[in-house]
Amino acid sequence: MKLVIGCDHAAYDAKTEIIDFLKSLGHDTIDEGTHNLDSVDYPDFAAGASLKVQSGAADRGILICGTGLGMSIAANRFKGIRAALCYTEELAEMSRLHNDANVLCLGARTQSVESMKSIISLWLTTEWEGDRHARRLNKIETNSRGQDAE
Ligand code: RB5
Repeated sequence: MKLVIGCDHAAYDAKTEIIDFLKSLGHDTIDEGTHNLDSVDYPDFAAGASLKVQSGAADRGILICGTGLGMSIAANRFKGIRAALCYTEELAEMSRLHNDANVLCLGARTQSVESMKSIISLWLTTEWEGDRHARRLNKIETNSRGQDAE
């Protein structure tokens, strides 16, 4: 699989380990940055990775910040992106089975790298169930065309 991976300064060290892990599993990786420990803004990296998933340059994305919260909020603003913040294997599995999550968000200050690795493994190998979930994902897309408060 072709995977784009992005992080902010809080997750730079974790990202380096996760990229090595993904390569060891045989995946192609695009490193969206950040590339050092200098303080940066996570929305910039969420945007870069989300655009690559949107365009098909990457099959799926992995975004890591301190908690994973900022990355998930930022990535979900992009049409077609279904970013899921997963702290457990169960959430990772469900995010694929029911939500067809195409971006996995993780927290480097809230999860160990070992826990991230098991979550990632499951997330990458679990297929979407389709069926009734397709109708629900279509509704998410329809809603995201924009419904402003009156
Ligand atoms: C950076 O300090 C931190 O706010 C960021 O990594 C992330 O946790 C935001 O949600």
